[in-house]
Amino acid sequence: MTLITSVRGRIIYNSRGQSTIEVDISTKTHTGRAAAPSGASVGRYEAAAFPKGGARKSLDILEDNASKFIGIDSTDQKAIYEALKTIDSTDNYSVIGGSTAYAVSMASAQVAALTQDIPLYKSIHSKEHYKLPIPLGNILGGGAHAGHGAPDIQEILVFTLASRSIRDVIQTNIDVHKQLGVLLAERDITFTRGRSDEGGWAPNMNNEQALEISARACESLGYTLGKEVALGVDFASSTQYNQEQDRYIYDRAGFENSTGEQIEFVSDIIKRYKIKYVEDAVHEEAFKDMSILTSRFPDVLIVGDDLTVTNYTILQKAISDKSCNAAILKVNQAGSLYEAMQFADMATQNNIKLITSHRSGESNDSQIAHVGISTDSTLLKTGILGGERVAKLNELLRISGNDLIRGLGEL
Ligand code: PGA
Ligand code: ZN
Repeated sequence: MTLITSVRGRIIYNSRGQSTIEVDISTKTHTGRAAAPSGASVGRYEAAAFPKGGARKSLDILEDNASKFIGIDSTDQKAIYEALKTIDSTDNYSVIGGSTAYAVSMASAQVAALTQDIPLYKSIHSKEHYKLPIPLGNILGGGAHAGHGAPDIQEILVFTLASRSIRDVIQTNIDVHKQLGVLLAERDITFTRGRSDEGGWAPNMNNEQALEISARACESLGYTLGKEVALGVDFASSTQYNQEQDRYIYDRAGFENSTGEQIEFVSDIIKRYKIKYVEDAVHEEAFKDMSILTSRFPDVLIVGDDLTVTNYTILQKAISDKSCNAAILKVNQAGSLYEAMQFADMATQNNIKLITSHRSGESNDSQIAHVGISTDSTLLKTGILGGERVAKLNELLRISGNDLIRGLGEL
């Protein structure tokens, strides 16, 4: 019943208008569909999105090799991974492209769920009960996700700390974003209400001003930072890091940091704004520098994204260096769902909290909401507004009524 009978791919567009791969996988009775997302601040060691020749080449390779998937049990992600490896034996999917690896494995998980009439999260990882991850909203964007006048810092984020209903936590993130829009318009009559790739505001201001006004948005709604809600920051530091000079260069703000200065810069922001979530505070190979922050701030989620790139072997290094206490899970950084789940298992076994995440270039799919649930992720990072962002949040709302769900997870 769950055996794969056909595989069909096509090129569609992502939320940035770039080409991406969508794949349909069928069993005798059902069809599962998934399209790959793509990043702008891409980690050096993540799966290559496409081979040389782009999406067209990737699709050609899939079509030439579609027969390799026929007859595989769609519930068997390891078999899907092994079939991908017979086509592409590189360690970063530079032959077939990580986008196709993502779409094939996610579409097969999807059809497995449909054919068995079970939720996708259960098809990915079967257990008795599940909790929903807490949505992590993006309220202000800069860096690689916005134009030149915006802050150097890539993302200012918000999430709720007090445990409430899923609807309430989503609404809170949206309220803070909306209130920030009001404050930005009051501060600058030329503010165009322009937004970054993930839906956060993209104002013309520096890092300090952006953090200050984000804090004010929370407080003016009656929230105490660090109590009901907290701010987070994705520094995406590899964007600023200049390897030759060994310095972090903040063009917009007009200053540079040595490694030591970068650690103090981040520490100061954490303390000043009671930040509870810090992603890629140093560059993607600075495992030891990250560990300084992890031991300095045990109550803050110190998160690897470009640092750990959903890569099992790199996560082992981060664990042995005590570089982070949390890690981003982006299935397309790994390529296949099987490899992403290996990463998730390793993280969980070592008390590394997981943050399942979208990419800045997204599809309208909502499968990552299920990945967040099946991996027991603490947070689900999905931006804030725009159909492709809200799709994941709406899926959490739909799922929240299922019998197998036991409310929200703990931070
Ligand atoms: P990306 O960035 O999807 O553009 O790579 C998101 C992030 O850094 O978290
Ligand atoms: Zn990041």
